[in-house]
Amino acid sequence: MEIIREIAERRAYRFLSAEPLPEGAAMRILEAGTLAPSCFNSQPWRLVAAGIDADGGVADSEVLDALRATLSDGNAWARKAPLIAAIAIRASDDCRLEDGRDYALFDAGLCAMAMIIQASAEGLVAHPIAGYNPKKAKAALGVPGDYVLAALIVVARRGEGSAEDDPVLSPSQKGSETGPRSRKPLADVASFGRWSIKAP
Ligand SMILES: Cc1cc2nc3c(=O)[nH]c(=O)nc-3n(C[C@H](O)[C@H](O)[C@H](O)COP(=O)(O)O)c2cc1C
Repeated sequence: MEIIREIAERRAYRFLSAEPLPEGAAMRILEAGTLAPSCFNSQPWRLVAAGIDADGGVADSEVLDALRATLSDGNAWARKAPLIAAIAIRASDDCRLEDGRDYALFDAGLCAMAMIIQASAEGLVAHPIAGYNPKKAKAALGVPGDYVLAALIVVARRGEGSAEDDPVLSPSQKGSETGPRSRKPLADVASFGRWSIKAP
């Protein structure tokens, strides 16, 4: 067996289509996120889906437009997406164990990855981003002040045509659409038996 397609072929693509998502996809993606494991089943993730209504249909764009305005300039490409799902957490909603092991962010990451894998299986892009103004994004979404907006997941169909023609993408962003995936070799990040990771 090889690495499953949903993981192997997933990329953080930025060349997106503004077309609505396929019917039901948004709800399946959100639901997949909620199936993630969490410490003591705390399920600390709180999801705010900007762009869709409670039935998964296209929502009034007021909130989505307000959220788009909080994105960093480098994330201008994300403004096209018909769905941006925010993941908010509070440390107090999850395990807080000795040695700094606060699990809310960890579990939010698992939730995000489950959403991303579902989107990948649906042939969609689900690109996590941290580049937004957190205070303004929380205000746009109505997220209470004691929550941390851990990430936004930008969900869209892939763009049609060539990324080269997309006026919003920078040259390096265009290059990474088709360029090789950049990863440290397994030997640099994994040990077998006992720690043998070399200092960088
Ligand atoms: C927590 C997190 C924050 C990220 N923030 C951004 C971002 O603000 N803008 C962006 O273009 N990509 C962002 N990315 C995507 C990464 O740059 C991307 O996953 C990485 O370069 C590896 O590329 P790949 O996912 O295509 O393998 C983020 C990814 C993660 C997990």
